[in-house]
Amino acid sequence: MKHSKPLALTDPTTYTPHYKYREGALECESVPLSRIAEKYGTPTYVYSSASILDAYRRFSSGFRSIPHSICYAVKANSNLSILKLLARAGSSFDIVSAGELHRLRHIGVPGRRIVFSGVGKSKEEIREALQAGILLFNVESESELDTLAAEAARLKRRASAALRVNPDVQAGAHAHISTGHHRHKFGIDWDHARRLYLDQSRAKWISWQGISAHIGSQILGLAPFRRAVVRVSSLVRELAKAGVNLSYLDLGGGVGIRYTRESPPDLDAYARAILPHIRTLGCRLLLEPGRAIVGPAGVLLTSVLHIKRNREKLFIVVDAAMNDFIRPALYQAVHPITPVTRGKNAHVTKADIVGPVCETGDCFLHDWTMELPRTGDLLVLWGAGAYGFAQSSNYNSRPRAAEILVNKNQFKRVRKRESRSDLIRGE
Ligand code: LLP
Repeated sequence: MKHSKPLALTDPTTYTPHYKYREGALECESVPLSRIAEKYGTPTYVYSSASILDAYRRFSSGFRSIPHSICYAVKANSNLSILKLLARAGSSFDIVSAGELHRLRHIGVPGRRIVFSGVGKSKEEIREALQAGILLFNVESESELDTLAAEAARLKRRASAALRVNPDVQAGAHAHISTGHHRHKFGIDWDHARRLYLDQSRAKWISWQGISAHIGSQILGLAPFRRAVVRVSSLVRELAKAGVNLSYLDLGGGVGIRYTRESPPDLDAYARAILPHIRTLGCRLLLEPGRAIVGPAGVLLTSVLHIKRNREKLFIVVDAAMNDFIRPALYQAVHPITPVTRGKNAHVTKADIVGPVCETGDCFLHDWTMELPRTGDLLVLWGAGAYGFAQSSNYNSRPRAAEILVNKNQFKRVRKRESRSDLIRGE
C-alpha cells in the first residue's frame, strides 16, 4: 500500500480571535455553537461582539497620535445590533445609500458621524442626507456635484463636500473589488478634480471640506495605500496653496484579512505607513474599514443534509447555499469549513462542500480536506462576518438566515430567520 502524507486539516481558530475548540467543541467567546444551532436552527450567522470591538479599537489606536475618525463601512454588515455596538464604541459610519442612512438614523446616529460615498446617489438620497446634516458627501462626478448644489439650494443648507479622486492605484484581491484604477467607474480623475475644486471654491451651496479616495478591498500590501496617500496629500497641499483649505482626508477602506493563507498588513504597520503623510497636513483623517472590522468576527453555521458520491467525487450537501453566502461563487473566495465538533470522525477525506441551490456554482469548497461528517452534523464556514448576510438573497425562494450576536457567555438573536410569508410579502 502506498503511504501518503496525512492530509493537513485547516484550523482557523489559530488565527481567528474569540473562537476556540474546547474539548473538541467549537465556541464563540464562551458559547458553544451547538447551543445556538439547537435554539435557532441553521443556516445561521454568528458574530462575536468582542471580535468586532477589538478590531475597531485596534484600528483606531494605530492612529491615536492624530485627529481621526473610523467610519465603519455599513455595507459590510448592516445589522442594526452591530451598528449599535460600533456606535456605542464611538465609531462614525460610511454609507452608500439612503437605506443605510435609514438604519443609522433608526438607531440614533447623528448626521455629523456619517459620510456618504457611492457613484450613483439619487436626488432623493442627497436630499435626505442633507436634511440629516451629514459630515461629508464624497462626490463622484460633476453631475452629482450639480445635483448636490441644486438640492442644497432648495433646502438652503450648504453641503459639506469632498471629491472622491481616482488615485489610479491598482489594488484589491479580485477584479470585482478593485476600484482605484482609472479604468474603473469610481472617483474623478486628478485634473478634473483639481479644476472642480478651484472652479467651485466660491460656490454658494457647496462647501469644500475634504477629499477622499478608496482604492479597493481585501488589499494585502501596504504599498497601494502609501501610493494613494502620497498622491492625495499632494493634491491637498496644492489646493491649500490655491486657497482651498480642506479639513478632512478620507482614505477609504480596503484593509484585507486572513481567510486562509493570506498575510494581511498588521494594523499598526498600516497606520505607520499612512501617518507620516497626514501628520503635517492639518486634516482630520477619515478611514472607512468594513471587512477588517467585522470579517473575522462572523461564521456561518450550517448542517449537513446529505453525503453523496458520484464516481470518484464525494459531495457534502449542507443547508446553507450561495444565496446565504455568495463570496465563493462570485469571487472564487476560499472560506475554510470545519466541523463544530471535531475529533468525532477519525476518517479524513476530500470532498466538495455544496449547497442546495440549483447551480453548479453553488459550491463553497472544492476538494476540501476535512473529517468526514455525518448527516445532521454541524459545520462552520469561516470569515463570514463581512459581505456575508449583507449580500444574501432569496434565490430559489430560500428565506434568509437568522443572525446571532454573542457577548461572552450570552447570545441573542439579532435578526429572525425569514419566514415563508416574508418570501411573498409585496407580491
Ligand atoms: N469605502 C468605500 C467607498 C467602499 O466602496 C468600500 C467597499 C469600503 C469603504 C469598505 O471596504 P473594506 O474595508 O470592506 O474593504 N463584496 C466584496 C467587497 C466589496 C467592497 C465594496 N466597497 C467582497 O465580498 O469582497
